[in-house]
Amino acid sequence: MAHHHHPILGLILFFLFTFSSLSTFSHAHFPIVEEEQVPFPNLRLKNAYVALQAWKHSIFSDPYNTTANWIGNDVCSYNGVFCAPALDDPSMDVVAGIDLNHADIAGNLPSELGLLTDMALFHINSNRFCGIVPPCLENFTLMHEFDISNNRFVGGFPSVVLQWPHLKYLDIRFNDFEGPLPKELFEMDLDAIFLNNNRFTSSLPSTLGKSKASVITFANNKLTGCIPRSIGKMKKLNEVIFMGNDLGGCFPEEFGMMENLNVLDLSDNHFVGTLPNLTGLKSAEIIDIASNELSGYVSESICELPSLKNFTYSDNYFTGEAPTCAASSSSSATGIIFNDSGNCLIGKKLQKKTKLCLSILARPVDCDKVCGCGEGPSSSSLPLEIKIKTSPKKKLINSAYRIVEELELELALLTSN
Ligand SMILES: *[C@@H]1O[C@H](CO)[C@@H](O)[C@H](O)[C@H]1NC(C)=O
Ligand SMILES: *[C@@H]1O[C@H](CO)[C@@H](O)[C@H](O)[C@H]1NC(C)=O
Ligand SMILES: *[C@@H]1O[C@H](CO)[C@@H](O)[C@H](O)[C@H]1NC(C)=O
Ligand SMILES: *[C@@H]1O[C@H](CO)[C@@H](O)[C@H](O)[C@H]1NC(C)=O
Ligand SMILES: *[C@@H]1O[C@H](CO)[C@@H](O)[C@H](O)[C@H]1NC(C)=O
Repeated sequence: MAHHHHPILGLILFFLFTFSSLSTFSHAHFPIVEEEQVPFPNLRLKNAYVALQAWKHSIFSDPYNTTANWIGNDVCSYNGVFCAPALDDPSMDVVAGIDLNHADIAGNLPSELGLLTDMALFHINSNRFCGIVPPCLENFTLMHEFDISNNRFVGGFPSVVLQWPHLKYLDIRFNDFEGPLPKELFEMDLDAIFLNNNRFTSSLPSTLGKSKASVITFANNKLTGCIPRSIGKMKKLNEVIFMGNDLGGCFPEEFGMMENLNVLDLSDNHFVGTLPNLTGLKSAEIIDIASNELSGYVSESICELPSLKNFTYSDNYFTGEAPTCAASSSSSATGIIFNDSGNCLIGKKLQKKTKLCLSILARPVDCDKVCGCGEGPSSSSLPLEIKIKTSPKKKLINSAYRIVEELELELALLTSN
């Protein structure tokens, strides 16, 4: 996925970097010798020196020698370190950004980094940094872009980011963060939130709808529960990826209110029920609902959406589709890509075996029951997981409806003893 940058921020950072190269020249008269002999231009650069030296000492491997020139007082000349005039005092330079993307460095983030209080940009993607994101980064109060993706960070959600009032871009994907997503995350003024490919396990907070983000990726975690109905309030959302989690329940009717959404990926989860009225998805270009347990009819109101380019609904239990969907999947007259394979569509090729279809379709889903968790955490999310693991009888027991029913029965039996 392409990096998503805030245009105005891009401009700010352009100036930051321009200033930083100027400041490198203006400091060129500093002889790079013992730090005791050459004074630091200001206290904040002295603090930055302490922070960066501590960081350098935490590094186990630096295959491209990126930090080899992290020596001496002129921290503004260090590779990957960018200085700019302080926002509160333009007469002095401070460290405003760090960019060590793709440096393949192994190490961790020492608590001394908390001394870099003027940092607005912190990009260390595609390295081998490990350990936790230290809570003492709380004073990064100017932070705009925080990208620590594709590293080896562990622990709970790095909640220190919730304390940065100006954060716009948060990218923590491809790490090993685990546990719940904090509800405060969606109450921040963020433009992009990348959470995919971690080990988050909670349900989706009902605060989701408060987020003003244009991009959110939840893909490839272990999130459970339903999609909160508040999602309908997210008017700025362009792209949302729920792919590859353990989400379930029916789709909320509120999906139909997301008129600015371009990409909606719900594939590879356990969603059930029929499709809601999606006529309102006027901007939708890519809709992927493949590999769920959806059933019912795929109506022309989806296949004829005005911006549609690719609608994939393979590997579900749909029993009917509008002629517009079916026709286009064989001919490319419209240029729209449809994929209806692996369903229960009578007379179509590449469908599921009748027996498999019947076993699921014999038990229609009551969305009023299954989606009772539209707001707040799913009460069935934890037992659901246990149930799947311990169910000895049926491999096909994928319908959330059936699991919830069996669970209720099991609870009834347990409590009666
Ligand atoms: C990094 O420095 C070491 C020791 O000075 C040298 O052997 C190695 O070739 C350097 N690696 C790169 C990629 O420059
Ligand atoms: C953050 O700043 C506050 C106020 O300046 C200070 O009291 C606190 O100790 C700082 N926190 C850290 C971890 O440095
Ligand atoms: C679907 O929703 C649209 C408004 O978004 C409405 O005009 C239309 O009548 C609805 N269709 C059905 C079948 O309810
Ligand atoms: C259409 O979307 C599916 C699922 O997201 C994807 O696998 C496929 O490559 C896409 N097709 C084209 C031609 O982009
Ligand atoms: C349709 O989806 C199925 C399974 O998701 C996949 O195997 C197949 O290649 C897709 N067909 C096309 C034409 O992309």
